[in-house]
Amino acid sequence: MNERTAARGRGQEQQLSRPGVRMRMPRGGRLFLATCLGSLAVLVLYYQSIGKPEPSVGTGSRPEKSRRSPLQTLYSGDQQLQLLADQKSLQGRRELLEQACLSHTKKRRLLSPEDLKHLIVDDKHSLIYCYVPKVACTNWKRVIMVLTSDGRYTEPLAIPANEAHVAGNLRTLSEFSVPQINRRLRSYLKFVFVREPFERLVSAYRNKFTLSYNTAFHKRYGTKIIRRHRTQPDPEALKKGNDVTFQEFVQYLVDPRTQREEPFNEHWESVQSLCHPCLIHYDVVGKYETLEPDAHAVLSLAGVEDMLQFPTSGKSTRTDGNMAARYFKHISPYYQKRLFNLYRMDFLLFNYSTPEYLRT
Ligand SMILES: *[C@@H]1O[C@H](CO)[C@@H](O)[C@H](O)[C@H]1NC(C)=O
Repeated sequence: MNERTAARGRGQEQQLSRPGVRMRMPRGGRLFLATCLGSLAVLVLYYQSIGKPEPSVGTGSRPEKSRRSPLQTLYSGDQQLQLLADQKSLQGRRELLEQACLSHTKKRRLLSPEDLKHLIVDDKHSLIYCYVPKVACTNWKRVIMVLTSDGRYTEPLAIPANEAHVAGNLRTLSEFSVPQINRRLRSYLKFVFVREPFERLVSAYRNKFTLSYNTAFHKRYGTKIIRRHRTQPDPEALKKGNDVTFQEFVQYLVDPRTQREEPFNEHWESVQSLCHPCLIHYDVVGKYETLEPDAHAVLSLAGVEDMLQFPTSGKSTRTDGNMAARYFKHISPYYQKRLFNLYRMDFLLFNYSTPEYLRT
């Protein structure tokens, strides 16, 4: 039960920017029972389909489409698909993930609708995208807004970033009933984009703690980190929380109190906890390191590659593939080891090798 509880309550960022929304935490016996029954149903029905993606059945509940669904396209193995140079590597990643799940996860825990808050749904193109902050998720949200907007938007970058993050602009799988969830899990193309875990972590640190405008994070997390992990902090820093060092951030992450008190913020929560890649069978595991071809592959499968392009920012952030090494220099081997243990599963599941700069 603990693990389940810990996986709840994501989306702090949305809570920060829109206080009061998404406060529905199941409490009390009846709700809890309902959640349990719900979980069971999601798990049981969904598992029948794993490893054997069903073509979507024409039940007539959706508008008839002459095109194949992205999921059918992916597994049909036709020649058009073989033109996608990275098709093989996508299959390799899927298989590796499956193997890693088999060998590293002991217990299969139940999936509840509450776990599906990061899964964004595009009913029009039969897509499910699990968003992971710091892995091009703003651009993916923009793209899905274009895809689901019925022509209201045509250009992803014309959508302001903050609008892409407004809860309610996109639908998440958790909003649907259990049978509706199961139907979508079975017949939609499910994809996630991941990134080298420590590069992602350093990116989150830089974005949330070193930029002066992120005052919400400074107040919410920075002040607490400084109070707990800085000896003799000055009153200004205690009040503003705006000068957290990477070392202090690492101490906060590995402190057992942190996750006992509340789940990690989604910006530093592991992909494993956000997207449940061992419970949800992702059809495409895209990587930030190969964002362009991987994004193109997803858009091609969805049949929209002529309609829009994935926005690749002109910024050089992505070429800088060894940002983490610089930050880890100042972290002691003891903390490096504990930090690695926190993100270990993300390294294993997505085939990222242990960084050479680690001194553990
Ligand atoms: C896993 O990573 C290794 C080393 O980087 C690479 O050679 C291999 O192709 C990867 N495997 C998959 C399935 O992506």
